[in-house]
Amino acid sequence: VDLSEMVIDDRERGSFRVHRSSMTSAEILELERERIFSHCWLYFGHASEVPERGDFIRRRVGGRPLILVRSKKDGQLRALFNTCPHRGSLICRQDSGNAAVFQCFYHAWTFDTAGALVGVPDDAAYGECFDKQERSLVHVPRFESYRDFLFVSYDPDVPPLEEWLAGARENIDLVVDQSPSGRMRVIEGAHRYSMRANWKLLAENSIDGYHGMPTHQTYFSYIADAGGLLDDPSGEALPGRGRVLGNGHTTIEYAAAFGRPVARWVPQMGEELKAEIAAVRTDLITRFGEDRAMRIAERNRNMLIYPNLVINDIMGLTVRTFNPVTPDFMEITAFALAPVEEAGERLHTRLRNYLEFLGPAGFATPDDVEALESCQLGFTAGGVEYNDISRGMLREAQTTDELHIRGFWRQWHAQMTGRTISDWGDRPLVGAVRAMP
Ligand code: FES
Ligand SMILES: [Fe+2]
Repeated sequence: VDLSEMVIDDRERGSFRVHRSSMTSAEILELERERIFSHCWLYFGHASEVPERGDFIRRRVGGRPLILVRSKKDGQLRALFNTCPHRGSLICRQDSGNAAVFQCFYHAWTFDTAGALVGVPDDAAYGECFDKQERSLVHVPRFESYRDFLFVSYDPDVPPLEEWLAGARENIDLVVDQSPSGRMRVIEGAHRYSMRANWKLLAENSIDGYHGMPTHQTYFSYIADAGGLLDDPSGEALPGRGRVLGNGHTTIEYAAAFGRPVARWVPQMGEELKAEIAAVRTDLITRFGEDRAMRIAERNRNMLIYPNLVINDIMGLTVRTFNPVTPDFMEITAFALAPVEEAGERLHTRLRNYLEFLGPAGFATPDDVEALESCQLGFTAGGVEYNDISRGMLREAQTTDELHIRGFWRQWHAQMTGRTISDWGDRPLVGAVRAMP
């Protein structure tokens, strides 16, 4: 199939289809590495993961091994390629820690925490042209942060992060403003898991409201039994909205169906927490006014920051990033996020919510792994060429519609075919916009 036919987008008739080879072809994955992962901003980590001077983490970002380190000398964060300028070895072979220097284990070249080459065993063996500065660790061309979310780009000419985040910025604000000081932290540790599925299946799934009820019925019945649901979980869509936010970023925002530690109390959280959560709610209203406070407290949001960062602010708060290894295999890392002020029973509730639904052994994640691996297996059947992603294309997007998934694919298709676009939505809506309940 030629690239232009990978996505068929007929906004007039309301038909949107994606060719399945986009999920199975090694050639497509190669092109994605070149045209997408080498030119976007990609999520690296959260500033709270490296609070002290000398703290570092290593991570693969868009398939490339990198080091994030807070320098001993000046406390600045730096993103470095994790490869020895000598002959290639990984410099940092530990996932996280605190270091005075980095020493390559192969021939013991030593670098300081800003990346400068500071030690070469027997350096008299090198000629005059040997310049230590030139042999230092190389910085990733672009490294910027938005409210402690750290991103890198391999493209020196990528637009500034804030500009590129477009409408996703406001949605990140809604998450971070849960904290009275505007500071969130990653709860120590990460969930690392993998799926035998194409990475784009997880991008779709993370913002797919349509699958919630059928795929995760066990969870919803369990929560309903525990008295935590607003509405009857019989399959009605939760009221809310799907939105495209520009540059492939998309979100669904919907009425909370669960108790949220910020700031929606439900009986199963226990009487002891009632007053504390009410105080959080009052504080939100004081800081942001009734409307915005209620958006933060009462609404849930599933957000995809193109191409591979998900922030799900639901009964817990997860940050999830994923990278393709082969067309039918991806690696996923997920973190639990919380306001720095949250502690004790309230934090415990948040983490319990998180594990129950979002953890790799929770109620949801195994269901999703099964669903996505099943799609990938289904693709091998052949017979069907295109997936259908047309749901709700001719109406104002509801939470179970697929507008937000189309937003992702429109950006993907534009980048793959070397176009820039400014229109990620369906055709302009006619008629009144339904107010959100
Ligand atoms: S490869 Fe690192 S010191 Fe030789
Ligand atoms: Fe799911």
